[in-house]
Amino acid sequence: MRIGIIGAGMVGGALGKRWAGLGHQVLFGVRDPAAPKVKQLLADAGPNACAGSIAEAAAFGPVVVLAVPWSAAREAIQAAGDLTGKILIDPTSPIKRDLSGLDVPEGSSAAEQIAAWAPGARVVKAFNTVSHTAMTDPRFPEGNASVFYAGDDDEAKRVVADLISEIGLTPEECGPLANARLLEVVGLLRMYLAAHAPASVAGVAFRVLRR
Ligand SMILES: NC(=O)c1ccc[n+]([C@@H]2O[C@H](COP(=O)([O-])OP(=O)(O)OC[C@H]3O[C@@H](n4cnc5c(N)ncnc54)[C@H](OP(=O)(O)O)[C@@H]3O)[C@@H](O)[C@H]2O)c1
Repeated sequence: MRIGIIGAGMVGGALGKRWAGLGHQVLFGVRDPAAPKVKQLLADAGPNACAGSIAEAAAFGPVVVLAVPWSAAREAIQAAGDLTGKILIDPTSPIKRDLSGLDVPEGSSAAEQIAAWAPGARVVKAFNTVSHTAMTDPRFPEGNASVFYAGDDDEAKRVVADLISEIGLTPEECGPLANARLLEVVGLLRMYLAAHAPASVAGVAFRVLRR
């Protein structure tokens, strides 16, 4: 599958390297494709990855990942251009710096804002509740980490669930996009646990238990 990833930082880089390593074609959409850190990422990601503009990443294939800070999401979507029909994965964590809450309007979520800024895109909230290191290596002593995902388009959610499973994470279907409000609070909870326990942020993940 052709996957455009807007942003080539910790999350974009981790997901892009994993998917490229599994045979997907990945195009990182960045502001400066010639930057040394982008060249290093491409060297690490191997022959299935390349870099281009943000608009090129958006046009590259059926799946686009918005791996930028929440504060940059609107600008990145504007730079992306028309995202109609695209499966737009939103991993953003709209968390206030002091962990006192979410930086979104009351009764909404980053994912719903993104859906409003990218009309026609099939937005799926996913990956905001796991660290980039768990995207690289999903194994924990208790089992592999879960990835909660939510969206309004069933086909888009199936594609995202497969992309989650392929890298060894466990997909957990969480209903409509409005439930991104729950997922974003879970992301905040992960930060809180990491800040108040003897573990790094990267060392905290969730796994759903059932019986
Ligand atoms: N790190 C984690 O473990 C983790 C886990 C789950 C979710 N998240 C969320 O995932 C998102 C990405 O996090 P990250 O850790 O990958 O961040 P990061 O390492 O800081 O990377 C951010 C990327 O976004 C790009 N960017 C910044 N402003 C931009 C703009 N206005 N237009 C286009 N591109 C822009 C940066 O490009 P430049 O290099 O040009 O600045 C960089 O490639 C955030 O919303 C974060 O909250 C992070």
